[in-house]
Amino acid sequence: MTNQAKLGQPRSRLVIHDLAQRNGHAEFSRDIREGLSSYPKHLFPKYLYDELGSRLFEAICEVDEYYLTRAEDEILKTHADEIVAGIPDCDTLIELGSGSAEKTRTVIDTFMRQRRELLFIPVDISASTLAESAHALLDSYPSLRIDAYASDYFQALDALPPLGRNPVLVLFLGSNIGNFEPTEARNFLSAIRRVLRPEDVLLLGVDLKKDRQTLEAAYNDSLGVTRAFIVNELGRINRELNANFDLWAFGLRSFFNEQAGRVEVYLESLRAQSVEIRELNMSIHLEAGERIYVESAYKYDLNDLRRFGKEAGFDLEQTWLDKQKRFSSNLFRAAN
Ligand code: TRP
Repeated sequence: MTNQAKLGQPRSRLVIHDLAQRNGHAEFSRDIREGLSSYPKHLFPKYLYDELGSRLFEAICEVDEYYLTRAEDEILKTHADEIVAGIPDCDTLIELGSGSAEKTRTVIDTFMRQRRELLFIPVDISASTLAESAHALLDSYPSLRIDAYASDYFQALDALPPLGRNPVLVLFLGSNIGNFEPTEARNFLSAIRRVLRPEDVLLLGVDLKKDRQTLEAAYNDSLGVTRAFIVNELGRINRELNANFDLWAFGLRSFFNEQAGRVEVYLESLRAQSVEIRELNMSIHLEAGERIYVESAYKYDLNDLRRFGKEAGFDLEQTWLDKQKRFSSNLFRAAN
């Protein structure tokens, strides 16, 4: 049973399934306890995206150094017609990690021009972001229908409604695939493949390997928006678990680990300090310079992607790059 909230009007055009709220607080408590009592300490990327975190992420997409969103947007604006035309009769668009769904508008616009009707199935961990973006989309597109899942990715794939007769297009944009460890990334592609039928299509946005300076700047912008985004997870622990992290006492460190092919993002304790997390009855100590690992962003090249796809049961049919060749949009077709 899903906890199904029918919100907004007109009712028949929007359903929001809120799977994230069940046990949300218990799971958050368990993960934070585990992460902060490990050595080295670590935090979880999925908890970056509460309501404030989602807004801060949107701001990251605007800063000069974070080229990914602009590059992907350029690709979608240039090639959406061709992408949609390549999937005749497709009338369902699933997006994993839809966020504000700003980039998705380019694709939805194209569907509306070519097909007139569309069922959009966005999945996002933040219920508030999902509701807000769904209402904005319904206002813009009078014939659009939305069936939304506030959920993590894996849960949503299990909960998706039976797919209709026509082909579906799945979007996984923003190089979110890079935030998985490579083995998990492959498992995730397999999990997507399992809900698809032959001829269904996945459009995967992937950031490419490039020079260190560009990569490190993208994950530590000079305005400090990325720092705010990451430090907000400590703020969230303060708010939701009654902790007393001093948010000024942490710096952001982002390093490109060239050998591993990933940008590693850490919070660094700027002094020796102790923190109380009262709701967990837990006290932690941090040395000056101690790092808390937050997230990795893997960078790939096109051969890696083709192999990944193959192993998960997809054929890489076409790849588009932005003019500066920084980012790739990859069309995978579910193999027989
Ligand atoms: N999917 C985004 C990326 O890998 C997420 C992201 C952007 C991010 N900036 C970040 C994750 C900073 C952690 C830290 O680019």
